Amino acid sequence: MTSSYLSELQPSPRVLLGPGPSSVHPRVLQAMTLPVVGHLDPEFFQVMDQVGDMLREIYHTSNFMTLPLSCTGTGAMEAACANILERGDTMVVCRNGFFGDRLADIAERCGADTYVVDSPWGKPADPAALAQELDKHPNVKAVGVVHAETSTGVLTPLQEMIDLAHRHGALVVVDAVTSLGSHEMRMDDWDIDVCYSASQKCLGAPPGLAPISFGPRAMDVINTRKTKVQSFYFNIKDLESYWSQTRAYHHTSPISMTYALREALRMLMEEGLENRIQRHARVASSLRAGLKALGIGVLADEANQLNPLTGALVPEGVDDAAVRRALLDDYNIEIGGGLGELRGKIWRIGLMGDSARETNVFALLSALEIILSNQGYEVAQGSSLAAAQQALAEFGRPA
Ligand SMILES: Cc1ncc(COP(=O)(O)O)c(C=O)c1O
Repeated sequence: MTSSYLSELQPSPRVLLGPGPSSVHPRVLQAMTLPVVGHLDPEFFQVMDQVGDMLREIYHTSNFMTLPLSCTGTGAMEAACANILERGDTMVVCRNGFFGDRLADIAERCGADTYVVDSPWGKPADPAALAQELDKHPNVKAVGVVHAETSTGVLTPLQEMIDLAHRHGALVVVDAVTSLGSHEMRMDDWDIDVCYSASQKCLGAPPGLAPISFGPRAMDVINTRKTKVQSFYFNIKDLESYWSQTRAYHHTSPISMTYALREALRMLMEEGLENRIQRHARVASSLRAGLKALGIGVLADEANQLNPLTGALVPEGVDDAAVRRALLDDYNIEIGGGLGELRGKIWRIGLMGDSARETNVFALLSALEIILSNQGYEVAQGSSLAAAQQALAEFGRPA
C-alpha cells in the first residue's frame, strides 16, 4: 500500500482470520456504494424496519427495541450500562477475559458499585462463584456476562447464570459480540434482558454498527429511571422515538453502513441461521484438527470451545510476532495475538462470518507449516492439511 494521500487508496487483499473484523463479502461492499438517502426518508425507514426484523430473527426475540447502534461493540457496552445503571446501583460482572474486564470498567464509569467475579482466562465464567458474590449484595441491579470471550476463545453457557441473576432480581446483560451468528443465541427463551453484538464478526459486515436488544424488564427499568441517562448519544428512549413510528430525529444514521448490515443479514437469512452456525462449527473443527497435527494446543477445554475464535497455544521456542508478521507479509493472512496476560502466549485465529471457509483453513495451515518449519519447528509437511480434511469428512457436508 502506498503512503501518499494524493494516490488512490489500495489496501492489500487481506484474508482476515483474526478476532475481527472478518472479511466482507463483495455483495455487502457493493451495498455500501448504493445512493445515500436521508435518514428521515421513508425509503430508509423501510430499510430500518427490515434490519430490525432480521436482527429479531437472529436474536430469537420479539423485543421491539432491537436495533443497530451507530458504533462498534464497545459503544453497545456503553449503551447497555448507561441506560440500565444509575449512580450507586450495583452491578456484578463475570470476568474471564479482556472483555469482561472492559464491561466492568464501563459499569464503574457509569457510576455503579461494580463487583467482579473472576475466573481464570481460558475458562468459562463460573456460576458457583457468581452465586457466592450475589449472596453478598442485597440489591444487584445487573449481572454482566460475556457469552463468547474473544480474548481466549471460550464460550460460557448462560442459562444457569441467567436464572441465578433473575432469582436475585437482577437484569442480565450478555455480550454476544462474537457469538451472534455463530452460536445459538435465544434471547427470549433464555430470558436475557440486554444483549449486544457487533457488525464486523460473525454477521459479516464491516465494523461500525452494534446490534443491541433490550427486553421488557430492561425497558421497565429504563422507563422508571430517576435520573437522566448520562449519555445523549446512546439514550435508548430517544432512539426509541427514531426507531418507532414517531421517527423523530436523534442523530444522523450511518446510511451506507446500514445498507451493508442489511445485505449481510440478508445473506445470513439466505444461508439460514442454523446452517451458518453449523458452518462455523465445521470449519472450527477442521482448524483445530490441523493445529493438533502440528502439535499446537488450544487454550479452551473442548466443552467450552468457541467456534468463531480459537485461542491456539504458541509452541515453545516459536516467535509469536514473527509468525504473525510472516503470515501478513508473505501470505496476506491476518491472525491476532494474545491480549493482556495472554500476550505472546496465544494466537487468536478467527473463522467468522464470510471468513469461516474451509479454503481459509487450508490456506492458513499450509502457510503455517512453511513459516513454522522456517523457524526450525519440526513439521511433517502436509500433516495438518490431511488432518483438517479428515475432520471435515467426519463432520459431514452441510445439508
Ligand atoms: C467479546 C467482545 N466484546 C466487546 C468487543 C468490543 O467491540 P469493538 O471492538 O467492536 O468495539 C469485542 C471486540 O473484539 C469483543 O470481542
